[in-house]
Amino acid sequence: MTLRAVVKGVGHYLPERVVPNSEFEATLDTSDEWIKSRSGIERRHFAAEGETTSVLATHAARAALKMAGMQPDDIDAIVVATSTPDLTFPSVGTMVQAQLGMTRGFAFDVQAVCAGFVFALTNANALILSGQAKRVLVIGAETFSRIMDWTDRSTCVLFGDGAGALVLEGETGDGTTSDRGILSADLNSDGRYREMLYVDGGVSTSGQAGKLRMQGNQLFRQAVEKLAETAEAALEKVGLSGPDVDWIVPHQANLRIISATAARMEVPMENVVLTVQDHGNTSAASIPLALSVGVARGQIKQGDLIVTEAIGGGLAWGAVVLRW
Ligand code: UT7
Repeated sequence: MTLRAVVKGVGHYLPERVVPNSEFEATLDTSDEWIKSRSGIERRHFAAEGETTSVLATHAARAALKMAGMQPDDIDAIVVATSTPDLTFPSVGTMVQAQLGMTRGFAFDVQAVCAGFVFALTNANALILSGQAKRVLVIGAETFSRIMDWTDRSTCVLFGDGAGALVLEGETGDGTTSDRGILSADLNSDGRYREMLYVDGGVSTSGQAGKLRMQGNQLFRQAVEKLAETAEAALEKVGLSGPDVDWIVPHQANLRIISATAARMEVPMENVVLTVQDHGNTSAASIPLALSVGVARGQIKQGDLIVTEAIGGGLAWGAVVLRW
């Protein structure tokens, strides 16, 4: 008998305002054609004034709890992946806890930028396997629109806002890869790549939140190399490889990165969940958003083998293998 962290519910939330690529043409030297062909992005959602990361996260959490048939007080822990918290502290996790009306358990945030959800999922799995928690709400939520430099065409057209959430519950399996739940993970970071993607402000430097800065094409090269590597490393830990996978649910930063990674892993694009066209890059929210949309579209079904993979600021990157 082996304890597994099994997905019981999934949900997402996107702010109401949809911004098509064409909206940027009025203020920037850019075009729908450039954005679409270089990134695959066609539109993204931006949060309304006052619609903070914890608000997006709470909507997504409610949807995931509803699918799981659980109440907030059934949950033992909340782990939120975000780099755009409402405040410097307290954590978005505790804000979500309060907004859900949850009166027990514990909550905290994980910050690994675009790879945040993979890190949060791995932490949630560890909480369940160590007996700290039986049921964990894992959320990825971001408002990257708040850290955009609207005069920088090379970044501001790429990002969007949103949130996705999973409810995980400990269940015993037989210890094989046929078990439902998280089967393996591979986490990495290398702080020497800091300049490739960072925010130029913060609490103990400027005292301001700052704006996102990115060396896009250098990061592109790192992403293509590292994402297939980490996904294959996670699969290898449980004796699996690309062709065993039913769905790659990748971080949705760039369609060209997603398809190059799938090709390296020998997974056809029909087996990749794509939301980049509709959401843009929502950082730590992109994987749970794609999982939720993949289920809603009828793509992901119970029993499917899924590999998620992401890379972002740090650099930090990783992958999780799970059976849905
Ligand atoms: O989520 C974290 C992980 N993030 C990523 O993985 C992002 C990785 N990088 C990328 O997705 C791509 O590198 C971008 C989409 C950011 C850029 O695509 P690219 O094919 O690497 O383009 P580039 O940066 O090499 O720029 C090509 C040209 C440049 O002009 P010159 O120097 O060739 O004259 C840019 O100035 O495109 C220009 N450019 C634009 N043109 C029109 C940059 N941004 C724009 C724009 N509209 N919005």
